[in-house]
Amino acid sequence: MAGVSGCIKYSMFIFNFLFWLCGILILAIAIWVRVSKDGQEILSPGDSATNPYISVNILIAVGSIIMILGFLGCCGAVKESRCMLLLFFIGLFLILLLQVAAGILGATFKSESERMLNETLYENVKLLTGADNDAKAFQKALAEFQEEFKCCGLVNGAADWGNNFQQNSKSCECQSSTDPSCVSYESKYVYKQPCISFIKELVAKHILIVIGIAFGLAVIEILGLVFSMVLYCQIGNK
Ligand SMILES: *[C@@H]1O[C@H](CO)[C@@H](O)[C@H](O)[C@H]1NC(C)=O
Repeated sequence: MAGVSGCIKYSMFIFNFLFWLCGILILAIAIWVRVSKDGQEILSPGDSATNPYISVNILIAVGSIIMILGFLGCCGAVKESRCMLLLFFIGLFLILLLQVAAGILGATFKSESERMLNETLYENVKLLTGADNDAKAFQKALAEFQEEFKCCGLVNGAADWGNNFQQNSKSCECQSSTDPSCVSYESKYVYKQPCISFIKELVAKHILIVIGIAFGLAVIEILGLVFSMVLYCQIGNK
């Protein structure tokens, strides 16, 4: 049976159209993260201008690459171009390899990165008593976090704020003085729980989302590899 299966050709077309949409989605998420500054200051108050943007820029690059691949796959299928399909296959294969390598590295250094996050957060306690611009930015971010997650201070509770406590006490304060999760501190009722565990949970949740997206993409990529190879061979047999 020589010739090109219409089924595979049009699956490949639709599939890559979806792929192209995925690329746009990733680009959109990356740009959204770049615009919304939630949490970025909490993790890296020092050089918030450069550090968090590295990962976002990588995401923007990935989104663009997926868009280009989607385009190659679409056109390669419709025009029955072996050259485009081969480029598509090679690009997709390299991406899958990179993803697997990143996954292995991530799993290997999981405890290391947890330790680094913990240390960063402990280091950042110093910023709560500071008065320079970096410290102020961090304090503002933590104050918002405190209000949302009903916690106070970073590691030891309200005392972390030192002399800055009175200035920032509003986001620490409980609604009612009888709440058992609150304590009295400098004549104010504040949340007893420090924020560190909530921040760690938030980071873990984000990492889980990233892992989920990576697995979903890997499944799509393997399908793309199979389809493009089948189409490539069918065009060759025609
Ligand atoms: C986090 O770091 C601090 C200080 O470096 C240490 O005392 C604490 O045990 C660490 N906690 C975890 C869960 O690793």
